[in-house]
Amino acid sequence: MPSSLRSCRNIDDLRKLAKRRLPSPIFHYIDGAAEDETTYRRNTASFADCDLVPNILEGAEKIDMSVEVMGCKLAMPLFCAPTALQRLFHPDGERAVGAAAEKFGTLFGVSSLATVSLAEIAETIRTPKMFQFYFHKDRGLNAQLLARAKAAQFDVLALTVDTIVGGNRERDFRTGFTTPPKLTPASLFSFATHPGWTLNFLKHGKFELSELKDYVPQGSDKPVSVQDYFTGMLDPTMTWRDAEDLRAQWDGAFCLKGVMSVEDARRAADMGADAVMVSNHGGRQLDGARAPFDQIAEIADAVGDRLDVILDGGIRRGSHVLKALAAGAKACSGGRLYLYALAAAGQPGIEHALGLLRDEVERDMRLMGVQKVGDLHPGMLRYRSR
Ligand code: FNR
Repeated sequence: MPSSLRSCRNIDDLRKLAKRRLPSPIFHYIDGAAEDETTYRRNTASFADCDLVPNILEGAEKIDMSVEVMGCKLAMPLFCAPTALQRLFHPDGERAVGAAAEKFGTLFGVSSLATVSLAEIAETIRTPKMFQFYFHKDRGLNAQLLARAKAAQFDVLALTVDTIVGGNRERDFRTGFTTPPKLTPASLFSFATHPGWTLNFLKHGKFELSELKDYVPQGSDKPVSVQDYFTGMLDPTMTWRDAEDLRAQWDGAFCLKGVMSVEDARRAADMGADAVMVSNHGGRQLDGARAPFDQIAEIADAVGDRLDVILDGGIRRGSHVLKALAAGAKACSGGRLYLYALAAAGQPGIEHALGLLRDEVERDMRLMGVQKVGDLHPGMLRYRSR
């Protein structure tokens, strides 16, 4: 068990540290997924079904791991996917994630359920930014979110398309997770035995969903489950037509987050999307859905010349990033890989996580005999079952 940030050698160590630091409802909200969590486990396990075949004697002294994705130049091929409620995990929340992403020259994804305002993020964070858009029943709220993302000059708008209804996240039901957190007989012990987190939470100002607070009860002090937000507030009638309308209203890069089939990826290209994030929401929505890495090659083969294909989810090692890129992804993104680190140690924690992964990518590129991301190709992969 790692006792400090410095003793964390990988993302799993950071997960263990986060587990120790967080009250259990909060930890399980990050760590958990839908139903039997088979998709969640498969998201990472899928990488182990594919082996890298390195080339030797290629000379790999200077490594360039930069990529250009959705019109943004990134210093590394891995970025921070948008995730909700970050100030719940650490008082610095989005401020810490954005500053760490900026230090590593990578993209900062900001959720519709952010706990710091888009206006503040625009003023303080200089790295490329993605705003993740949830399509609400309330059209006034949708218009306001879009206007604020425009005013904040975000580079990318990502419409999440895999949350038409809330996933069945059983850990959250068991722990009674709500936002803001509420004390229940089950959670009381956990909050009391994590005084560091509890005092921080009480001390660091009101917790609010900055962009939603005027529209949804979750923005106020009334505790509501995330499941209720999805089911009550998001529009289950959302169709391609709505996505096209949104695309037409956004001048910057546009991305669909949560595409899993070749057919949908083709349709995304037809409607003028600049990217698809091949993603199952980190296994938090449809349990039994296929893993992003299992789908990435066929989607990249079908539409990789028309838009940027991004692998989102399951990344815990630099070698996972290399496999995804070799299979055709333009870049990768992840949530838990930096959320564990945020919870464990704030901004220094995230920098530690991104640093470990960047070092792994760099070392593995050398070991593969490639100097730039574009040198990776499908011929360097062998799938065990094929
Ligand atoms: C998420 N994710 C997510 N996605 C989204 O579009 N909007 C959101 O608000 C959130 N919130 C969120 C919270 C937490 C705690 C997690 C773990 C995830 C999904 C996220 O963007 C990404 O798709 C997954 O995290 C990818 O899987 P890994 O990297 O966590 O395995």
